[in-house]
Amino acid sequence: MNVLIIGNGGREHAIAWKINQSPLLDNLFCLPGNAGTESLATNLTNIDIAHHQSIIDAVQANTIDLVIIGPEQPLADGLADSLNANNVKVFGPTATGAKLEASKSFSKSFMKDSGLPTSNFDIFSDIDSALNFINKNESSITDYVIKADGLAAGKGVILPNNIDEATRAINQIMSDKIFGNAGDKLIIEKRIPGKEVSAHAFSDGKNIIPMPFVCDHKPVFDGNKGPNTGGMGCFSPPQWLSEQLQRTINQDISAKTIESLSKINIDYKGVLYPGLMIDGQDINILEYNCRFGDPETQILMSKLQSDLLEICLAAADKKLDQINIKWDQRPTVGVILASGGYPGDYDTGHKITGLADIDDDINVFFAGVKRKDNMLITSGGRVMAVVGSGNTLNEAREKTYKNVSRIKFANMHYRTDIGLI
Ligand code: GLY
Repeated sequence: MNVLIIGNGGREHAIAWKINQSPLLDNLFCLPGNAGTESLATNLTNIDIAHHQSIIDAVQANTIDLVIIGPEQPLADGLADSLNANNVKVFGPTATGAKLEASKSFSKSFMKDSGLPTSNFDIFSDIDSALNFINKNESSITDYVIKADGLAAGKGVILPNNIDEATRAINQIMSDKIFGNAGDKLIIEKRIPGKEVSAHAFSDGKNIIPMPFVCDHKPVFDGNKGPNTGGMGCFSPPQWLSEQLQRTINQDISAKTIESLSKINIDYKGVLYPGLMIDGQDINILEYNCRFGDPETQILMSKLQSDLLEICLAAADKKLDQINIKWDQRPTVGVILASGGYPGDYDTGHKITGLADIDDDINVFFAGVKRKDNMLITSGGRVMAVVGSGNTLNEAREKTYKNVSRIKFANMHYRTDIGLI
């Protein structure tokens, strides 16, 4: 069987690493892939992800049997629809399903209509009403979150500390259009207290198979300080999440979401990843993602002991009820090595050393890494993830950080407290 993976991040390197272990696999392709996937797959680097016909041509030329779509943008752009229309099997939802992530006004209204728990919100499509709202609520402005409606590469969520920050955010989103059309509407919702957890599940549109829960650390500095990033590291499982809460999340959030989507004729195949806030026994949905998280995937693929290709095929064929999935139950920690300055300005092109000294039971997944003159150099903000498991969370942390310390590049930055908070 021939498989194509769409995307070029650490998430896609981890997916490619796992798919490559499948006995069902003949040939693996990545589009465009990265310096990590090039040793596992044929990287198709000359095709524009936004050009669906070119992808369909590549699928036909390489007799691809299954396409796995990694990032949210091609899903929101309807790549799964274009492939389905050409009888190509796809792991990833159609554009209507991807609206769960691509339109916050859609997803918040969907949650409200379906009785799924989320904070109170208002949707604004003109700037004056949004500004009026925050001015009216100036004295309690820190109780609110401002969100651009559409995809904004993880930067569209603002937690204002005062009225000036709220006013600036609304102006930047709706007037300056810093996120383009994603700012045609915005959502102002109540902030929810609690601890955040990423709840991934495989879905075939009818059945779900939950994955282990993962906690991401989004702020760039230790102690959750500094601006938010795409994610600076993860650990799994969160020991504070009781079995009862886990069951409730799987049943009353993930399964109920798929059932509610099916009632509005959305046949959701792929990964459903609600970001949740847990406060005591209260569960609230912060947002939905329509794909694997990054860097959560690097942790999840390291824990997955079953055949990912078999799972993706079963999801595409509506047969998830026929398979069982096994996971490494030990704690796992993943640390992102980033370019100093990220998520603001940073330099690239720095030589990476130390990868030959990494222990055999540690996984390293590349994101912003390029090969130049037979050397690996940095090429992005998040450069790579180092992932390790141990019998305890402490052991997983120690093993992972011991290996982190062997990798070097100029201006390297990483958090030292992944798994501690
Ligand atoms: N780790 C956050 C995300 O993938 O959206």
